[in-house]
Amino acid sequence: MKRIVSLIGALLFVTVSSIGAASADKLTYYCSAEEDWCQLMARSFEDATGIDVNMTRKSSGETFAQIRAESSNPKGDVWWGGTGDPHLQAAEEDLTEVYVSPMRDQLHPWAISQAESADNKTIGIYSGALGYGYNTDLLAANNLPEPACWKDLLKPEYKGHVQMANPNSSGTAYTTLASMVQLFGEDEGFEFMKALHKNINQYTKSGSAPIKAAGRGESTIGIVFMHDAVKQAVNGFPIKVVAPCEGTGYEIGSMSIIKGARNLEEAKKFYDWALSAEAQNLALQVNSFQIMSNVDAMSSDSAPDMSMIKLIDYDFLKYGSSAERKRLLQKWDEEVSTLPQ
Ligand code: F6P
Repeated sequence: MKRIVSLIGALLFVTVSSIGAASADKLTYYCSAEEDWCQLMARSFEDATGIDVNMTRKSSGETFAQIRAESSNPKGDVWWGGTGDPHLQAAEEDLTEVYVSPMRDQLHPWAISQAESADNKTIGIYSGALGYGYNTDLLAANNLPEPACWKDLLKPEYKGHVQMANPNSSGTAYTTLASMVQLFGEDEGFEFMKALHKNINQYTKSGSAPIKAAGRGESTIGIVFMHDAVKQAVNGFPIKVVAPCEGTGYEIGSMSIIKGARNLEEAKKFYDWALSAEAQNLALQVNSFQIMSNVDAMSSDSAPDMSMIKLIDYDFLKYGSSAERKRLLQKWDEEVSTLPQ
């Protein structure tokens, strides 16, 4: 009898606790920014709301591919961070949800126009310019000249010294490819990528990995967003940041709610919170130096000064379109990545 009573007790406990778990507020959050920033956003949102966050960090192109693969049975609720192009492609492919946040009037016009160009299925959360950084100690040790332009990176003496990410997985690297096409024209842009390929020591999965490798002294030059190079310099590594002389592209880092989100209300809460100046100021705690989209968000003196950088008029509509992104990636796969080095 005693055993039966304790068995019923145990069963009751399991049932009650599983009902509790099922009804707890939760959010499945896909993040495509830096791991430390993703974690800080997750924990701060939990603290602010009591909603449990389950976070996965993957690069922009990888997260896009995951959301597409899961579209018949969506597992994620909100996708925060990563370059805007794959967010726009997700919107066009109807993988993300329309949402007009009450926070929208607190944002810079560039963040709102990102939303408007995607029928309100995404929104801008930060922006940053593309460039590169190099390890000053390694450059000197190898007697290499100081690069200042994109085309400097093609010099034969940099063979094996340049690292960038793979544009299929990384939004940074796709921005690089699309920027070269816009800066030099498609034919010359691809000639640039082919010549650059000869000097590349590794195509990484994540966009910021090449400058982390340069910081650690494992590679000399990393093609990255300038704010990611600044982060390494501020963290004490011998990194010099370059805004290439020909001009450069930039990103509008974005956020989208995933279509079919199981926790739609929590996703909207996260979305509104992530657009607040308070949440955006968290960036500075982890030395993330993007320009944030809330007009009242703080910026750091260390952040790259966008007004001093020669920016191209990046065509987000075209290069974030499904057909163009697919076409350029396929062309890079076939004509660049397969070339001997
Ligand atoms: O958080 C750093 C960052 O460079 C963002 O500015 C950008 O949106 C994202 O990483 C891109 O990462 P990836 O190239 O790995 O997709």
